[in-house]
Amino acid sequence: MPESSLAADLLTWFDRHGRHDLPWQRDATPYRVWVSEVMLQQTRVEKVVAYFQRFMHGLPELADLAAADLDRVLALWSGLGYYARARHLHRAAELVMQRHAGVVPADLAALQALPGIGRSTAGAILSLGCGRPYPILDGNVKRVFARVFAVEGWPGRSAVQRTLWGHAEAQLARRRPGDYNQALMDLGASVCSRRKPDCPACPLKARCQACQDGEPEAYPAPAPRVRMPLKSAQVLLIRDARGRVLLQRRPPAGVWGGLWSLPEAPADADPAPWALENLGLETQFEWAWASFRHTFSHYHYDMRPVVLRLLEPGGGGLRESADWAWRTPHAPPNLGIPAPVSRLLHGLGRHNPGADRNDPNGAVRKTE
Ligand code: ADE
Repeated sequence: MPESSLAADLLTWFDRHGRHDLPWQRDATPYRVWVSEVMLQQTRVEKVVAYFQRFMHGLPELADLAAADLDRVLALWSGLGYYARARHLHRAAELVMQRHAGVVPADLAALQALPGIGRSTAGAILSLGCGRPYPILDGNVKRVFARVFAVEGWPGRSAVQRTLWGHAEAQLARRRPGDYNQALMDLGASVCSRRKPDCPACPLKARCQACQDGEPEAYPAPAPRVRMPLKSAQVLLIRDARGRVLLQRRPPAGVWGGLWSLPEAPADADPAPWALENLGLETQFEWAWASFRHTFSHYHYDMRPVVLRLLEPGGGGLRESADWAWRTPHAPPNLGIPAPVSRLLHGLGRHNPGADRNDPNGAVRKTE
């Protein structure tokens, strides 16, 4: 089949202007490409690079990931956000060990049957990691095709999505499919940016309908506006006499699922009596920081950090459980902790720099 000339133009551009030295492009095994693609699903390349390298240093092979504790995987993911991605990746690695003898399957349906792998991620693994001709359609690529073919409508609608997949399939390069897909992503991330695209520099300008019409920014149509709900709570930094802070593991499903966070009291509760009644801990109010906002994908969350001093030694009356840990703010990050919570812990550490910096048991201590 002859190459579409869009693909040929794109590959010529890629050879001169594309990215060739991303860490997952070196030694591009299916496992490395897979991990990078999952990280890149909701996070920018510039941020992913360091996380990818740390992750690969800790878990260099698929078998290492499958055998690792979920806690370890979440710790390596800490700061990247969208932690369901890490849980799915871990589960999927276990399934590859069971179903495919530890070899990432070079098969679209088998890949899509794994948690966290949709059609575009599967296409990226197959093309970038296995050299097989499968299309991709991530956010940047949707924008490129929406403009080139002047596709009306919001790409979140399934009819629009189908149209875009049709274009992606029709234009796919049979030769160098990995480079071609990388080129599409690179073009979308650079020249064909959401705002102020650099159309004069674009290898597709002569064939791009939106550019010819002089309105590239009209595509793709934006998502319908929805007002995000607002939730609020107080997050409790309960400190014992050694400067350790009480962490609570969140339930496995939902936001920050399985990560270590802080106990949360209702926004209107009096924190110390709440801690006594709900955690069985006698504490004294020390101070509170101003509320700050963290925005999840589907709601805003306003948190008021409250520092409480524990009035009894050794964790007081806390139940024995795998879901509670005492940790010094200075200890190295060996637990999966969401970035906003990590920042609070560091802030608390700076507030009281003498506190227990050298505690040999300080890193983590499960309550017993
Ligand atoms: N976004 C998703 N996959 C990517 C990749 N391989 N390179 C750059 N950006 C991406």
